[in-house]
Amino acid sequence: MNDIKNINLIRLAGLLLIIVTAISCKRDNNYTGHGYFMDMAYSQAFETYGSSPNFSDSITMLTPVEGTVPREMIPYQYEKTFDEQQRAGRELVNPFEADKENISRGKEQFSIYCAICHGEKGKGDGHLFTSKLFTAKPTSLVEDYVQNKPDGEIFHVITMGSISTLMGAHGSQISRDDRWKIILYLRNGLK
Ligand code: HEC
Repeated sequence: MNDIKNINLIRLAGLLLIIVTAISCKRDNNYTGHGYFMDMAYSQAFETYGSSPNFSDSITMLTPVEGTVPREMIPYQYEKTFDEQQRAGRELVNPFEADKENISRGKEQFSIYCAICHGEKGKGDGHLFTSKLFTAKPTSLVEDYVQNKPDGEIFHVITMGSISTLMGAHGSQISRDDRWKIILYLRNGLK
């Protein structure tokens, strides 16, 4: 007797399962289905580009307060003028040793960012110039004119570009450390 009851219960449960499964299939492909525990499925925090009721302009992603400096970023304190270039030359000191590792890192970065104009050996004969794609003559980096400049001045030129603006700024592309290492290579690897 009990067995028959159990079998009927199982049948009923099976039938219910089929009905629920059938109902839960909606033909509308745009319908994402019912949800439960919505607070676990969706973030309670405001979305970056969503609107926020907390501010009068409803913008969630606020601009940082003026003067904000991102973590680990060291602001560059020199303007793009010749006086400032010379001041950088007097004040900035290369924090890296001219050891094998740093020079070879500098060489690698030089061939990525500088050689195309200044040439692999820094003689001002890079492909962009010799192929006439870039018409301004890149300065030779091996001659006294550049070699006699203090490290800080060269750092300034790489960071901000040349005063004449013929050479562009590379401060946003090459990390601070790598700019210094390129200078180590200019001093110790080119000749
Ligand atoms: C798009 C071509 C180009 C690239 C890339 C380039 N330079 Fe130059 N560079 C020039 C030109 C052109 C000049 C000459 C500019 C002038 O006379 O104002 C110059 C000038 C210089 C000078 C002399 C600045 C002075 O005070 O007269 C230095 C130093 C220098 N470049 C270093 C570098 C280093 C290091 C890199 C790589 C990080 C680099 N350049 C990348 C084209 C380039």
